Amino acid sequence: MTDSLQTTPTTELLTDDPTWWRQAAVYQIYPRSFADSNGDGIGDLPGITAKVPYLTALGVDAVWLSPFYPSALADGGYDVDDYRDVDPKIGTLAQFDEMITALHGAGIKVIVDLVPNHSSDRHVWFQEALAAPAGSPARARYIFRDGLGEDGELPPSDWTSIFGGPAWTRVADGQWYLHSFASEQPDWDWDNEEVRDDFLTTLRFWSDRGVDGFRVDVAHGLAKSLPEALPSKAELDALPKADGDHPVWDRDEVHEIYATWREVFDSYDPPRTAVAEAWVEPSRRARYASAEGLGQAFNFDLLEADFDATAFHDIITYNLKAADESGSSTTWVFSNHDVVRHPTRYGLPPLAGREIKQGAEWLLAGGDASEVDAERGLRRARAASLFMLGLPGSAYVYQGEELGLPEVGDIPESQRQDPAFFRNPGVDVGRDGCRVPLPWERTGESFGFGPGPAHLPQPTWFRDFSVEAEEGDPTSTLSLYRAALAARRELQTDETLTWEAVADTGAVAGAEPQVLHFSRPGGWHVVCNFGPTPVAMPTGEVLVASGPLGDAGEGPGNGADAVLPGETAVWLRA
Ligand code: NOJ
Repeated sequence: MTDSLQTTPTTELLTDDPTWWRQAAVYQIYPRSFADSNGDGIGDLPGITAKVPYLTALGVDAVWLSPFYPSALADGGYDVDDYRDVDPKIGTLAQFDEMITALHGAGIKVIVDLVPNHSSDRHVWFQEALAAPAGSPARARYIFRDGLGEDGELPPSDWTSIFGGPAWTRVADGQWYLHSFASEQPDWDWDNEEVRDDFLTTLRFWSDRGVDGFRVDVAHGLAKSLPEALPSKAELDALPKADGDHPVWDRDEVHEIYATWREVFDSYDPPRTAVAEAWVEPSRRARYASAEGLGQAFNFDLLEADFDATAFHDIITYNLKAADESGSSTTWVFSNHDVVRHPTRYGLPPLAGREIKQGAEWLLAGGDASEVDAERGLRRARAASLFMLGLPGSAYVYQGEELGLPEVGDIPESQRQDPAFFRNPGVDVGRDGCRVPLPWERTGESFGFGPGPAHLPQPTWFRDFSVEAEEGDPTSTLSLYRAALAARRELQTDETLTWEAVADTGAVAGAEPQVLHFSRPGGWHVVCNFGPTPVAMPTGEVLVASGPLGDAGEGPGNGADAVLPGETAVWLRA
């Protein structure tokens, strides 16, 4: 394998460089679980500002803030009451300005989360819609329908929401509204001009405040075309999803909306950026990622893959090529606020037929977290992350990932918050396990998260993953991320990746390949041994390694007869 991918022109990560996003390391902050400055148990904006030195030491180029807008937190803030304000539980607009000034002062860009598929049911326009009669302009901003049955007592269709339970909720006068997620999240009607204009105002509002980019929630859901006679859920599910004509998801018209957003982005200098959260067929990401559209789209393929050399190779090859064709760069993600943290996913027990994705589903369905092989999971997660940080494209790091934080599997039902749990009783424990507030210190009521207890319970073992515990330990996951992110800066000037032949993987002849090796310009080599057995390591100066290197020769793992242990990655300079 010696094919070179990506020949996109050189990019330089200068602060005013309009291409800063192409290879940025982006740190996702879930604000209410990051750092609590005032002791109310909820993380806040001053908490983030106070941690700017931490982010600088970590070496990230940008932060993405999950929603911080006024919200009843029916879905962790993805139920927005007011798109142009800050939740008083989290801070004020003035504190937002202070935070952005501090981040920019440290050379860190700011991406905010935009939630355009739905508002909250407390949004002033939804309240207006409830107070207005059926057929009124106020109702036309959302998707209201009459019900079926003699008195309209049945929902307009049997569709279910993504979080489970019905997708329609009835209001006092008997009409029903559509919510693709929780009932507190009514879907906007994007055919409505006022809705379209209002979002343009929101984009300008945050761009004027200095925001550098937007992460666009459910980007594939905005444009809908619901026929008078709605198909049943079974019929809806059976419709093709990749032809641009599905009534609900990934319709071609959605790109007309993003073309108007692009005009706003490009009216700023440097242009504001955007990244689409669009769970669409891989081949359909290109339009979201195009320069006329949002500019970049998440690829969650590694997040969904097993820890497997062939799977990683194919995903990387496909996505680098696809991003290049769309003129964009790709994104790499292992963890975020919606999925089981990857050290836990990678440590799921290897039971028959239980691959990592199914394993995560098993865990979410209440599988016994004590069955997880934590040591192996962390070893693989560190290897996968180091390998990923060496790739061209944007690298997303979810808060706590740099500490190797596992999922918290045993949050008591009485303390769970995620609507996915409440709407799926007994079926899905929800996503709270990856949203537990960060441990900053070994001690304290919330391990330094804040002066008081945290809004979700932290297990006692969190102290061992605290920043304080890891900071001085050269073998910690925090030290690994810091070293990798510092070294990665040298890789950010070019986007070429060349797969290198793996001479002797040490694998049993005929077995699946267990090692991947690619090089980047400047003599960089990134090698990962996905298998369980040690292999011969290419020679070169070791820059960063995800775990101890076996060394049969002289020097720290780089002798001629050095070996790369199983489930370990290394960066070398040849
Ligand atoms: C995707 C977000 O990441 C998730 O947290 C949220 O629940 C849904 N979109 C609905 O907004």
